Amino acid sequence: MEKDPIIIAIDGYSSCGKSTLAKALAKRLGYVYMDTGAMYRAVSLYIIRHNIPINHLKPKEIKEVLNQIDIQFSWNEKEEKSETYLNGENVENEIRGKEVSEKVSEVAQIKTIRERMVELQRKAGLHKGLVMDGRDIGTKVFPNAELKIFMTADHDIRAKRRYDELIAKGLDVTFEEVKENIKLRDYNDTNRKENPLTQAKDAVVLDNSYLNQEEQLDFVLKLIAER
Ligand code: DC
Repeated sequence: MEKDPIIIAIDGYSSCGKSTLAKALAKRLGYVYMDTGAMYRAVSLYIIRHNIPINHLKPKEIKEVLNQIDIQFSWNEKEEKSETYLNGENVENEIRGKEVSEKVSEVAQIKTIRERMVELQRKAGLHKGLVMDGRDIGTKVFPNAELKIFMTADHDIRAKRRYDELIAKGLDVTFEEVKENIKLRDYNDTNRKENPLTQAKDAVVLDNSYLNQEEQLDFVLKLIAER
C-alpha cells in the first residue's frame, strides 16, 4: 500500500474501540496516531487537581488556564503504547480513571477549550500520514480528511469491553457505573452545542459489535485500497 499519505478520521461513541483500531492502523501504515480524547482528559485532570471552577470563568480566564497546560504524547517502547504527559508527568493511567471520566464531557463542552484543542490537532495533520480519533475529527478538525470512519457498537458490549479494560488496569469500578458513564458521555457528546458528535456525511459506518480487531483492521485497509 504505497500510496500518498492521507488523514484518517475516526469518530464515534464512547468505548467503541476507536483508539484500538486507530493504533492498529497507524502501526500497519507507519502513520502517527493521535488520541484527542486523551487531550480533553488531560485538561480535565488539570482542572480537577487545581479545583478550577471552569464553568464560571470567562473565555480570557480559560485561555490563561490553557496556557499553563502542556500535553505531549510519548511512545513507551516496552509496553508498545503511546502515553499522555501533562506538564511533563505521565498521567496515562490517571486520565482513564473514574474521576476524570465523570468530568471530561463537561469540560469538552466548553467552546474556548475546544477551539484550543482543535488548533493543536490541526497542527498534527500538517504533514498527513495521521490517524486521529475523537468525536469531531471528520466534521470539524479535518472536514477534508481522505477517509472518515464512524464507529458504533451495542451499548452493553461497549460497557463490557471498557469494564474489562479498567479492571485489568486495576481500577476500582463496577459494571453498572461504567455502563452509566458511557450512556451519559454519549448523551453529552451528541447533545452539546459546540461541535457535537455527529456522523459526517461522507463517513463510512463501522459497527464492530460482532467484529474482532483483525476484521475491523481488514475492513478499513480494504477501504483505503479501494480509494
Ligand atoms: O475518546 P475518550 O472517551 O477518551 O474521550 C473522552 C471525552 O472527551 C469524551 O467523552 C468526549 C470528549 N471528546 C470530545 O469531545 N472531542 C474529541 N475529539 C475527543 C473526545
